[in-house]
Amino acid sequence: MPQSLKAIAFDAYGTLFDVHSVAALAEHFFPDAGVRLSEIWRVAQIDYTRMRTLGDRYADFRKVTEDGLIYAAEKLGLPLEDEQRKALMAQYEHLTVYPEVREVLEALKRQGIPIAILSNGTPDQLETLASHAGLTNLFDHFLSVDTVKRFKPTPEAYSIGPAAFGCPASEIGFVSSNGWDACGATWYGYRTFWVNRAGGPLDKLGVRPDGEGRNLRELLAYLEM
Ligand code: LAC
Repeated sequence: MPQSLKAIAFDAYGTLFDVHSVAALAEHFFPDAGVRLSEIWRVAQIDYTRMRTLGDRYADFRKVTEDGLIYAAEKLGLPLEDEQRKALMAQYEHLTVYPEVREVLEALKRQGIPIAILSNGTPDQLETLASHAGLTNLFDHFLSVDTVKRFKPTPEAYSIGPAAFGCPASEIGFVSSNGWDACGATWYGYRTFWVNRAGGPLDKLGVRPDGEGRNLRELLAYLEM
């Protein structure tokens, strides 16, 4: 990613905030099954964003997240009580921020680079996550696909970034830990960086993000900051 970038958009879930920080509470409710529950929950949640977009049956990210949780519990044969479901959903609104996020965002701001979250999450989910982490003031925009009612990786979802920043995607960096999201943004025309936190293989989508690293500090190195 060249330093000539005019702005940077970050994915939220898994990139800035740890979706698996719900696993501790899940383990408390379901000993030895909480980590597995959290994993199946995340996969079902993302599946539902895709199915609902493909089938033209949009429901917002909070709804698909809750549905993913219910499915994951059923899949594992866990008796998810209403109170447990509500507690896990409440936890999802206050996910743990990854430790390097603040210093990286502050470094970008010092360089005068406008930054945004561009996420499947609803506007209030994104603002609550940032507020809980004490990061609200670092963001210039909270951009939610809820405004176009089509989840990533649709072009409509990625189009929100250039519209908000007022410049073409080719001048905007897009950063995601979700490989498919980094690929989708590359398709759209952003300059992309894949935060490959898990050290996993690249999705086979016929495209490669421009840059890759294991955490957000490596984004700064990539930007030569
Ligand atoms: C998001 C999901 C894809 O924040 O992680 O949009």
